[in-house]
Amino acid sequence: MRAYGFTTIGGPSCEEFLDVPEPVAGPGELLVRVRAVGVNPGDWRLREGAYGDVAPAVLGREVAGTVATLGPGVSGFAVGDEVFGGCPDMQGGFAPLARVTAGFAAHRPSAVSPEAAAVLPVAAGTAYDALTALDLPRGATLLVNGAGGGVGLPVVQLARARGLRVVGTASPAKHALLAGLGATPVAYGAGVVERIRAAAPDGVDGVFDLVGGDALRAVAGLVDPKRLRSVADKPLVRELGGDEVPRDRSSAVLTALVELVAAGELDPHVREVFPFDEAGAAMRAVEGGHALGKVTLRL
Ligand SMILES: NC(=O)c1ccc[n+]([C@@H]2O[C@H](COP(=O)([O-])OP(=O)(O)OC[C@H]3O[C@@H](n4cnc5c(N)ncnc54)[C@H](OP(=O)(O)O)[C@@H]3O)[C@@H](O)[C@H]2O)c1
Repeated sequence: MRAYGFTTIGGPSCEEFLDVPEPVAGPGELLVRVRAVGVNPGDWRLREGAYGDVAPAVLGREVAGTVATLGPGVSGFAVGDEVFGGCPDMQGGFAPLARVTAGFAAHRPSAVSPEAAAVLPVAAGTAYDALTALDLPRGATLLVNGAGGGVGLPVVQLARARGLRVVGTASPAKHALLAGLGATPVAYGAGVVERIRAAAPDGVDGVFDLVGGDALRAVAGLVDPKRLRSVADKPLVRELGGDEVPRDRSSAVLTALVELVAAGELDPHVREVFPFDEAGAAMRAVEGGHALGKVTLRL
């Protein structure tokens, strides 16, 4: 089977098309004939060794496709079902066949494209879990740091649907889109705290950071650390007194998200769809760190 991954830990030059054995669904897993794959910052982090020396490995942690076989102990799915979900071991989706965790999979309604469904487990799932963890009441103000990316756009939409006011930092090219989703966009960089205070004169009740580093340090003081969450820089958010976001990774969350997409209430903003042969270009589009919405591969 022709898959895209890497054989040694390192930079982009470590990526290549690999010839690997077809996977087999293990207990609690589905084997899925892949139609679309989400591309995430976690993919290049895996290649760089952030999760240990996992090489050789196939990239891709979330897919949509057709169930080919069921592993032992799986119920609720049948061969031929259209599904989407997360891959075990957070790898394996950049391939025509991929293992998917049945407990982190859901059926894909025909109204939702494979590309739109494929990107829900990681980005929209994290957005959903972050709002659960922050647990802000209606009318509270949420700052989303890095609001124009794969996680940022769903968190803005889900937060607005929960009745939150949202201020989002983003580069100016993304401001009109954010304003259209009901957020108040703010440019990041020097003076960002003053601009946020002007946009939210009554203060900020929660911060969800998607950037990390100095960008996280810049905004951390705006909020009680108990209401500071980051999935971009876990060591720093803990140092600042905040926390990461515990992931739910359940079929129930995926079903809730795909129903919102089907109802037109959540747009995952799939902005770039690359053919499988251009998997490297898709990775570079995400690794640049300034993606607008989601990037996917179509198989
Ligand atoms: N469960 C998890 O642990 C989990 C899950 C998903 C994602 N993540 C992490 O969360 C982070 C974001 O993921 P993503 O998928 O949303 O990434 P993404 O699609 O690449 O989006 C990141 C966004 O940040 C913006 N940005 C870059 N520098 C910025 C700055 N200094 N201030 C404000 N915004 C800035 C970028 O665009 P502009 O600069 O053009 O505005 C871009 O829209 C990544 O670090 C990823 O690894 C973790």
